[in-house]
Amino acid sequence: MIFELEGFVANKVKVMEGVYYLSIESPSISSVAYPGQFVLIRVSPSLDPLLRRPFSIAGVKDGCVEVLFSVVGRGTELLSRVKIGDVLSLRGPLGKGFPAPSFELLLVGGGMGVAPLLFAHQRYGGKIVFGVKDKVYKGLCDWIRDNVGDGLSLFSEDGSIGERGTALDGALSLACSDAEVWVCGPDAMLYEAFRVLSGKVKRLLGSFESRMACGIGGCYGCSIRTKGGMKRVCYDGPVFDLREVF
Ligand SMILES: Cc1cc2nc3c(=O)[nH]c(=O)nc-3n(C[C@H](O)[C@H](O)[C@H](O)COP(=O)(O)OP(=O)(O)OC[C@H]3O[C@@H](n4cnc5c(N)ncnc54)[C@H](O)[C@@H]3O)c2cc1C
Ligand code: FES
Repeated sequence: MIFELEGFVANKVKVMEGVYYLSIESPSISSVAYPGQFVLIRVSPSLDPLLRRPFSIAGVKDGCVEVLFSVVGRGTELLSRVKIGDVLSLRGPLGKGFPAPSFELLLVGGGMGVAPLLFAHQRYGGKIVFGVKDKVYKGLCDWIRDNVGDGLSLFSEDGSIGERGTALDGALSLACSDAEVWVCGPDAMLYEAFRVLSGKVKRLLGSFESRMACGIGGCYGCSIRTKGGMKRVCYDGPVFDLREVF
């Protein structure tokens, strides 16, 4: 069931410069959503911009849906200006998220790709490996540490936060042949995860991003090429088996 509803902003945190966390009241969505699914948010009360923007569900709590987002363009800049008590229009939960894990779970995130993994960790536990470029992301890493608690390993490419290396370096050191690995991050990271992990673990899933219009499978604007033909990220995904895509 997909809902289209309005909910007030119950909490807003500026996690670091250009990164925000919002908690939006939406009992209908939060009660049925599962990790890997996303919502489309109307970022302005007017019809400009016309298209809603997609955000992974980063958690559910007290009848609210949580999102963690970075400001990259006009839509996210508008969203960053909302205040506690403002009302936002949401559509969701959308897409096919992660199936319940069957093996030992390892969650691997790069940059804002950590958002759906926070929900996965909330629901299923497991270890999280989170990687950033450098100390610019310290605020985000601190916030994630506070929210995840046990089971988090931090990596930075310059060694300024956690261990030196990428999230995939961390994943390689932790993944065993009985592991199930879920990866969220830029496309290049998903491809690299496929390259280094596909022969080593039981199951390897990744969450893909694409520009979206309808979010419900109608316009085919978000399609990606897979071994099984073109697939809609919003409807067939966003979670795909990396061995089916690369
Ligand atoms: C299923 C899904 C889940 C997502 N979850 C999150 C999340 O949890 N947190 C988060 O911060 N972002 C997430 N995104 C990305 C987010 O939707 C975009 O950053 C946002 O739509 C940009 O809107 P804008 O108006 O600010 O940028 P625009 O003005 O539309 O674009 C600005 C720049 O961002 C790039 N961009 C826009 N949309 C995307 C996209 N979907 N993927 C890659 N690059 C894009 C554009 O190419 C352009 O360079 C997700 C995207 C998808 C498809
Ligand atoms: S956004 Fe319309 S089919 Fe995916």
